[in-house]
Amino acid sequence: MIQKIPNKPAVLLVEDDYEQADLVQRGLQQSGFRVAAVRDVRSALHRLALESFEVIVSDLSLPGMKGDEFLRHIRQMEPEMPFLMLTGSQDVKTAVQSMHDGADEYLIKPVTPGTLSSKVREAIERRQQSLADSKRYLNAEMSRLIAFLRGVHAIVNALETKCRYTRDHSKKVAQSAVLMARHVPGMDKMAVREIRIGALLHDIGKIGIPLTILHKVGKLDDAEWKEIKRHPEYGVNILKPLGRYYPEVLGIVRHEHERWDGRGYPDGLSGTEIPLGSRIIMIADTYDAVCSTRPYRKALPKEAALDIIRKGAGTQFDPSLVPIFEKVLPELPMPRY
Ligand SMILES: [Fe+2]
Repeated sequence: MIQKIPNKPAVLLVEDDYEQADLVQRGLQQSGFRVAAVRDVRSALHRLALESFEVIVSDLSLPGMKGDEFLRHIRQMEPEMPFLMLTGSQDVKTAVQSMHDGADEYLIKPVTPGTLSSKVREAIERRQQSLADSKRYLNAEMSRLIAFLRGVHAIVNALETKCRYTRDHSKKVAQSAVLMARHVPGMDKMAVREIRIGALLHDIGKIGIPLTILHKVGKLDDAEWKEIKRHPEYGVNILKPLGRYYPEVLGIVRHEHERWDGRGYPDGLSGTEIPLGSRIIMIADTYDAVCSTRPYRKALPKEAALDIIRKGAGTQFDPSLVPIFEKVLPELPMPRY
């Protein structure tokens, strides 16, 4: 549905010719627009910083910065702002170029007030329509994404609940990984979100491993180990649809078992070749494993996990992340006995 245009849409008119500006201004006002008229781009930018406008009408040939340059500037600042270019008949070539640069319309002077008003109105409506369309599209995409995430999360839960030793494992790893990620310098919100999703889903590929291997109490033989080590690749396969929205997540999941010294799997990456999220999860995962009860031993205290992670700095773990782990240790989930 097209949003209702406010009663008096505000037009910013940039025209250096007084007579022309006066004519246009009066015409637009009579058609129900509120008009702020300025003579050059400098003043236009000043007004734009102070007020909000629904549309810009600008002459092409202006003193100082020209209309086409102004348009390119506006497209960078406010891509959705309707922009109409007024031009003399000798400027048609530049005017055509300005359509390529994103002008909604160009009008050759002299323009009758009636034509200008209806073009301005149409430009506003078109922009609102396209905004509404992209919002609808985004909403539909978001719902699909949320449904997918719920689905895969349900699989992880089902997988972990089957075994009392791994219950809530991924949730705890995600909690610890996010706490650590927030302390990494230069980390932005999106990166933290991807690490959280990567941690929540890091072991989803285990769904592809036979339960006889996954829950085997005794020692695994070589073939069984080989199969277990395939779970990051299975995980990436399952999570492929996420790649469109969170491209980093697939890399994080694929490499969560890579070691700092290059002796991990599946690709033997080392050091900073390993995605940062995977390096963080490697520590968070170890912490949860040490601090959880296993069939063959009780959960160990936080200090034991710290000791193991410190000793593995530079071999298994990224040494620059170990101090961050130490810093957040008091906030990490308590061991589960
Ligand atoms: Fe894993």
